[in-house]
Amino acid sequence: LVLILDFGSQYTHLITRRVRQLGVLSLCVSGTAPLASLAGLRPRAVVLSGGPHSVHASGAPTFPEGFLEFAAGAGAHVLGVCYGMQLLVQSLGGAVEAGEKQEYGKMEVEVTARSSALYGEGEVGKRQTVWMSHGDEVVRLPEGFEVVARSVQGAVAAVENREKRFYGLQYHPESFSEKYLFVEICILWENVTHSPQGMETLRRFLFDVCGIKADWKMQDVLDEEIRTIQSMVGPDEHVICALSGGVDSTVAATLVHKAIEDRLHCVFVDNGLLRYNERERVMSTFESDLHLPVTCVDASEQFLSKLKGVKDPEMKRKIIGREFIAVFDDFAHKLEQKIGKRPGYLVQGTLYPDVIESCPPPGSGRTHSHTIKSHHNVGGLPKDMKLKLIEPLKLLFKDEVRKLGSILNVPESFLKRHPFPGPGLAVRVLGDVTEGNALEVLRQVDEIFVQAIKDAGLYDIIWQAFAVFLPVQTVGVQGDQRTHSNAVALRAITSEDGMTADWYYFERDFLVDVVNKICNNVRGVNRVVQDITQKPPATVEWE
Ligand code: XMP
Repeated sequence: LVLILDFGSQYTHLITRRVRQLGVLSLCVSGTAPLASLAGLRPRAVVLSGGPHSVHASGAPTFPEGFLEFAAGAGAHVLGVCYGMQLLVQSLGGAVEAGEKQEYGKMEVEVTARSSALYGEGEVGKRQTVWMSHGDEVVRLPEGFEVVARSVQGAVAAVENREKRFYGLQYHPESFSEKYLFVEICILWENVTHSPQGMETLRRFLFDVCGIKADWKMQDVLDEEIRTIQSMVGPDEHVICALSGGVDSTVAATLVHKAIEDRLHCVFVDNGLLRYNERERVMSTFESDLHLPVTCVDASEQFLSKLKGVKDPEMKRKIIGREFIAVFDDFAHKLEQKIGKRPGYLVQGTLYPDVIESCPPPGSGRTHSHTIKSHHNVGGLPKDMKLKLIEPLKLLFKDEVRKLGSILNVPESFLKRHPFPGPGLAVRVLGDVTEGNALEVLRQVDEIFVQAIKDAGLYDIIWQAFAVFLPVQTVGVQGDQRTHSNAVALRAITSEDGMTADWYYFERDFLVDVVNKICNNVRGVNRVVQDITQKPPATVEWE
């Protein structure tokens, strides 16, 4: 196990992912979590993440007292990255000061040690391009430390104390991303690299320095989850599962079905916030492709009446979370009458990014009172919920869930579906979802946009695409008539895991065609805009 202590960098999850991509299980916890919460974990390595603070700022986050002794006791190697390195150096008696020259962006660093754990033997003088983002720098090393690389501007870029198993990198080895480029019928990998050798440095650290083995495999994750569910759910206990037709709930349901077979009862809830014809489409595929028994509950009146007049996005999410649970409770009650036993568990397809984003680390500037968004399936659960949760995907990223799904033989049609948020169109109609015919208009616009993407063969390249209904009316001219109708926005992104995202660049002809189709076919829309904001600073959804 590799433990990542998060000190608030937006990209901490990337370290977690990179380690997993190397075949090693990694878990990310808040850097200031109490030591007791780490009890029982025996990490072979701990990575201290970057963060937005200076170690000298008041309230700058630091690891809990006794952490370094804990790491030593576990025999763990500790690697500090950027802020993490400065924190490590400072807490061991070294000094960090504001640098004369700040280093942001691409930088060259040069290995300065003949022999180093992080770079190997005989690499002295070798240069590599890395991604730096720091104002402070290390100016004095703690006892027993050695500088093993410097930036070409002279700043300390890497340090180590091999005897004590402490290492530090001022740059971000995790910082690079892979992007798909579609060229006619070939899919090429384009490496948009910030620290091109970053993965190699991480690989060296994990395997050569820490002696970790790459033995974390999806098949093992599956077997382990099945065992856990079988031991948790007694032989005569029943479980219910809300299937949305999305990748996460479908994979979660298929996994739990494998573990407990016909003691799993799935329900598909029409909450009135679904996309065009979604209920019919999804229900028929459940039967034909998945062979899972699914009951369909029409609860649209119930959800929409509770959402009437509600404009606040967080409030909408909470209401939807609450209504979902009310529907499941009711479903469980009816099931009890039918099978003579009340189900005790609810399966949810919660993913790791949902968990991380709902629990921002202290010191990240994203406190609980400043939650970016409470994902409805994490933050919105009522305290008095009677059903216990089974969340078999809680530690996985989306692409890992897709891999798990393909081991479980979940059809490609499910695995390749774009993500759709639990609160559905409620977070895509800005403001009151029940006002006018906003939902209907949005459904039509969304269908035209997504169908055009499928027709153009772009669906599998784009990570997520959808339309947003804006509560804005603009003046237009349609068929010689002056109109005062609604504006809608189109959003299409590429992403690895939804934690960061880039907007998709459509050809002009494609956009012209889509906009024409929308304005000519959807009554009440006379203007279409495209959202070209990356995440960060925006989020994927508008609410
Ligand atoms: P954001 O908007 O947070 O979206 O950048 C990242 C990914 O998460 C989806 N999303 C949600 N999924 N419940 C969900 O199940 C939610 O409340 C929720 N909010 C956003 C979003 O569609 C994107 O894929």
